[in-house]
Amino acid sequence: MSVSIRCRLGILVSGSGTNLQAIIDRIESGEINAEIACVISNKADVFALTRASRHGIPIVVHENEKFPERRLYDAATVEILRGYNVDLVILAGFMRILSDVMVNAFPHAILNIHPALLPSFPGLHAQQQALDYGVRFSGCTVHFVDYGTDTGPILLQAIVPVEQDDTEETLSSKIQKAEHKAFPDAIKLIIDGKIKISGRKVLISE
Ligand code: GRF
Repeated sequence: MSVSIRCRLGILVSGSGTNLQAIIDRIESGEINAEIACVISNKADVFALTRASRHGIPIVVHENEKFPERRLYDAATVEILRGYNVDLVILAGFMRILSDVMVNAFPHAILNIHPALLPSFPGLHAQQQALDYGVRFSGCTVHFVDYGTDTGPILLQAIVPVEQDDTEETLSSKIQKAEHKAFPDAIKLIIDGKIKISGRKVLISE
C-alpha cells in the first residue's frame, strides 16, 4: 500500500506574488500534492496577500521593522511556520536574507528562486547586473537556501535569451515567465521524492 502525505508549504513573500500564484495554480490543478499552510509577508498591503486570501489561504503579516535584529525576526518566523506545521518553506519573492536561525530550523527544506543563472549575478538587481555584463543568456535558478546569499545547492535552472534591446523590465518579465514553470516544477520534484542532495549537488531521479 502506498501512502501519500500532503506536504505543507509555508510561502514567504514581499511583493506581487506572481510566483505564489503559479504555485497555487499547480496545486489546484492537482499536479502538486501539497497544501499551502500559510503565506507570510514581511510587508503589509502587498498583492501576494490578496492572491492568497482569494484562494482561502491563511495569511500572516509579519513586519521586520518591528524587530531590532534579523535573528529575532527569523526566530519569530520559525515559530509561525511551526504553528502551521510547515514541512517545506518557499521564498517566493521574499526580499530578506535569512539568518542561521531559519536555515538551522529547516535544513534542506527552504527553497528560493533567483532571477539569474547562479552563481552569476547573486543579490539584488540580478537582471540589471546581467544586462550590464552583456551576457547573451540569463534565466532563473531554483536553489536550496544555505548560510550564504544565493549560494545553496541548485535544483533547477531555466535559460532565457537576452536581446540587445532588452531593458531591466523586459528581461525581468521574460525571466518571470520561466520562473512560473521552474518553481512549481522544483517543488513537485521534492514532494514526489525525486531529489537527493549530495554536497553541493542535487541529484534528480527519473
Ligand atoms: C521574482 O522575480 C524572483 O526571482 C525574485 O523576486 C521576484 C518575485 O516576484 N526573487 P513575484 O512576487 O513572485 O511576482
